[in-house]
Amino acid sequence: TEGIVIAIDGPSGSGKSSTARGVARSRGLRYLDTGAMYRAVTWWMLDRNVDVGDTAAVAERAWLPELDMGTDPASPAVRVDGADVAHAIRSPEVTARVSAVSAVPAVRERLVSQQRDLIAEAQRAVGGIVVEGRDITTVVAPDAAVKIYLTASAEARAQRRGNETQAQDLAATQAELLQRDLLDSNRADSPLTRTEDALELETSGFTLDEVIAIVVGLADEAT
Ligand code: C5P
Repeated sequence: TEGIVIAIDGPSGSGKSSTARGVARSRGLRYLDTGAMYRAVTWWMLDRNVDVGDTAAVAERAWLPELDMGTDPASPAVRVDGADVAHAIRSPEVTARVSAVSAVPAVRERLVSQQRDLIAEAQRAVGGIVVEGRDITTVVAPDAAVKIYLTASAEARAQRRGNETQAQDLAATQAELLQRDLLDSNRADSPLTRTEDALELETSGFTLDEVIAIVVGLADEAT
């Protein structure tokens, strides 16, 4: 029997990563942070001084970075050309540029294909995988057994992101989040959208453990 796929989409700071990791740990599944893949490609482009505003330059190099994604929820490693970039991909420079790079169709084509391979492997090897991003329920795994659209108020999302990055200026953090969401929701290729068949979970009033429990319950129902 095929393992389960749990697909989670949503805007920045909605708690997708913590939720997805928690669900994967609780059910012995693998975990894939697709945002980390777009960040890793962006990190590589910046490291090579590629002008990320130049769509053709980015597209030409989309397949060059060697991406090695760990799918263990306890320690999801990210390697580019052998280098551990798990920390570097969270820098403000990468965060500010990732939406431009992720809008380039060649980058998406390459990463979606790698994501589908990782999903298929997890389905064969273990009980399945929890995958989170912006286009998982719509493009990467539209047939997933569980499809969730995670949201929270802009204030709650900025607060969460601010705690993670130790940002002092919450208003600036919120402005940055909303700017990235605007770009991610309005790009031509695979924009962030909620489909009819994805369950919307508004998490502002819930703790992380409560949200994890809800998703685990949905997964148990689906299996
Ligand atoms: O999830 P995270 O905030 O780390 O994602 C970083 C960026 O990667 C997003 O703002 C978006 O531009 C891009 N992304 C995407 N498709 C995904 C996941 C992330 O375009 N499935």
